[in-house]
Amino acid sequence: MSFKGRDVVSIREFSRQDIEHILDVAREMLPIAEGKKKSNMLGSHVLSTFFYEPSTRTRLSFQSAICRLGGRYIGFADPNVTSMKKGETLADTAKMAEAYSDAMVLRHPHEGSARLAAEFCSKPVINAGDGAGQHPTQTMLDLFTLREELGAIDGKTIAMVGDLKYGRTVHSLSYALAMFGAKLIFVAPKELQMPKEIIDRLNAQGAELKNTTKLDDAVKEASALYVTRIQKERFPDPNEYQRVAGTYQVNAELLKCADDKLIVMHPLPRVTEISPDVDATKHAMYFKQAFYGVPVRMALLALVLGEVD
Ligand code: NCD
Repeated sequence: MSFKGRDVVSIREFSRQDIEHILDVAREMLPIAEGKKKSNMLGSHVLSTFFYEPSTRTRLSFQSAICRLGGRYIGFADPNVTSMKKGETLADTAKMAEAYSDAMVLRHPHEGSARLAAEFCSKPVINAGDGAGQHPTQTMLDLFTLREELGAIDGKTIAMVGDLKYGRTVHSLSYALAMFGAKLIFVAPKELQMPKEIIDRLNAQGAELKNTTKLDDAVKEASALYVTRIQKERFPDPNEYQRVAGTYQVNAELLKCADDKLIVMHPLPRVTEISPDVDATKHAMYFKQAFYGVPVRMALLALVLGEVD
């Protein structure tokens, strides 16, 4: 299937074959992402990056990706400087992305916002996180990391730790991992477990999954630990956040019982859930994972803009 003009709203709209193709193109992009090779592949293109929520990696890696391929970007990182302040709707803003650029990257606090923007913008719309919904491009770079660093994804055990209720990264990632034949362990306090509708869909996909509150057991079993931040900003009640804050911490001591080859991933930003003493261990993969966002987003942009088949 051609990628040209395609929206990237939910990971569930991509087949395994689609994703493998994106990851293959991303691998070819690696020397350009590292600045070792020059490219003008997207030289005629302008990308809109519209961020209604804080972001460091997602926004900057999309901007780095388009720049490395010779294109340019316009956009904002703070919606308070836009006409949203005057009451403009997201639908109208999406029409402006269509008028001023060739594709739109959108992060927004409301679930369903990327879908709505895609209805009003005829150019490709890429969901860079919609509330507690999905984060499909993060999933693509997570899969790229797993494939590059573990060699394969099929049959591997991946433990997701932390806020599985509000974390959009783990929502998208669990669907994709199930499709790739990985085994899933969900480690979360009972208040923050994976939403039932996602578990139901995963079961319908035939996923092999297990729920636990015990981090130690998961560490012993897993090939990769995917740690997440407790999503403070999504809690309707701050007291509820206080009750679960700091439930889990991965530190060098805990990793002593892990397999030598275990990798520790995190979409970042981390707060207290990964201790800085993990950074110097052979398990730490999160900074390299963040770099992989560049080649993966380069591949995706080149594909949806029709410059690569
Ligand atoms: C994540 C997000 O925004 O969902 N960050 C990211 O995109 N790398 C995770 C988080 O904010 O905890």
